[in-house]
Amino acid sequence: MEKMLALEMVRVTEAAAIASARFMGKGQRDEADLAATEAMRATMDETDIFGTIVIGEGERDEAPMLYIGEQVGRGAKALHAAEVDIAVDPLEGTNLVATGQGGALTVLAASDRGGLTNAPDTYLDKLAVGPIAAGCVDITLSPEENCHRIAEALRRKVSDITVIILDRPRHTELIAAVRATGARIKLISDGDVSAAISCAVQGTGVHAVMGIGGAPEGVITAAALRCLGGEIQARFRFRNDEERERAKKMLGHADETKVYRTEDLASGDNLVFAATGVTSGDLLAGVRFFGGGARTHSLVMGYQTKQVRFVDTVHMFDRDRPPAVRL
Ligand code: FBP
Repeated sequence: MEKMLALEMVRVTEAAAIASARFMGKGQRDEADLAATEAMRATMDETDIFGTIVIGEGERDEAPMLYIGEQVGRGAKALHAAEVDIAVDPLEGTNLVATGQGGALTVLAASDRGGLTNAPDTYLDKLAVGPIAAGCVDITLSPEENCHRIAEALRRKVSDITVIILDRPRHTELIAAVRATGARIKLISDGDVSAAISCAVQGTGVHAVMGIGGAPEGVITAAALRCLGGEIQARFRFRNDEERERAKKMLGHADETKVYRTEDLASGDNLVFAATGVTSGDLLAGVRFFGGGARTHSLVMGYQTKQVRFVDTVHMFDRDRPPAVRL
């Protein structure tokens, strides 16, 4: 299932990236998100899958498409269509695109049925590391202790590790605690999925993500980190009773002390993760347009196939005016 799905899914993230990249720097975050969502939905419907959205743009009554529970793909019309659950974030980093900053992605994870936690759109407190530090950290311990454990696992001084944290007032104490260890910090304005994946890719120069970000993003991150052998640990964080009630309905509890691990958030036996850069970041180049086409840079991975592919695609919009395909 994964082999077929991986190539289908990267077409979906590529289409969403091309559509939303048109809005780079235009200050139109909602329009960029809608363009990504529409392109993702349309391309998904050309694929031979029997898909159900488990993480999407919201509940059925609040999102016109890619809502939770929506059926996508050619489904019954296609022979041998795989039954899959799909978690999407059509545009991860809407503000980044609106302001022309790097690091925005279009992203999705697909799994056999039931393999992705149907997380409510609340917050998660997250700790993510790459394969070398996986198994060495514990989110119930202090950030200081975790920084030391990560450094030890990586055989570095703590001052030689870099922790990514979303630049938010809620992280003032966390930032102070990490700074006190001597670790370096990269504060980001948005995009903790890409940040967590970067920790699991050697050469990106970052080693951990700490702090509170979106819960749906946490599930998608877990799928990516399972494929890469990294680790995420997380605990739900709710802002009000309405979120607690939603969590009770979707998760069966609203317990903020329960620790979710990578394989709790993304438990599927078959998992596929695909992402395409919209604006250039540490991990992926953004969409580059040229006369008659565009070039995209994607990451697509499978858990069973144990394959990580960086896909560089030239899209020819106009075959009568073909772009020069360059290395
Ligand atoms: P969107 O672009 O999908 O809105 O998410 C961007 C993001 O920065 C995520 O990467 C992160 O998990 C979340 O928003 C953090 O939420 P908030 O902006 O409310 O702190």
